[in-house]
Amino acid sequence: MDKNETYKLLLAQVKAMVKDETDPVANMANVAALIQEVFRFWWTGFYRVIGEQLVLGPFQGPVACTRIGFGKGVCGTSWKEHRTIVVEDVEQFPGHIACSCESRSEIVVPLYKGEEVIGVLDIDSEHLATFDATDQLWLEQIAEVVSNALSK
Ligand code: SME
Repeated sequence: MDKNETYKLLLAQVKAMVKDETDPVANMANVAALIQEVFRFWWTGFYRVIGEQLVLGPFQGPVACTRIGFGKGVCGTSWKEHRTIVVEDVEQFPGHIACSCESRSEIVVPLYKGEEVIGVLDIDSEHLATFDATDQLWLEQIAEVVSNALSK
């Protein structure tokens, strides 16, 4: 199936899944699992902003770093700069935090409550240049649904 079609179905499933659930951990856990069921990325998960750090939330994949500072790594930069970051080659991203040496490319999408970043959706791939503008477009929509669910 075409990537756009796959994401379209995924987005519909995410919306249906979080619609009647208010618990943030339950929603993040199921969204991470659903993304993994569909795409089988190396690592998919959430970090939540707690104080001055991003703290590991629900995820699927290998053990990961538990805390990331503001402006640190891809996740902390996405938080600081309020924007999605697509990294084709993690070795070319200054300050990339290697939780796993298998990770080759990455996308990080912020979660918002109003203007404030409340967390990030982080996805890693074991292949170079896995993520492009299509992934960004759809994952930002998925992140928006999750953001709204977390703000309920
Ligand atoms: N690579 C991320 C750290 C999180 S792990 O990839 C799960 C970063 O540089 O922020």
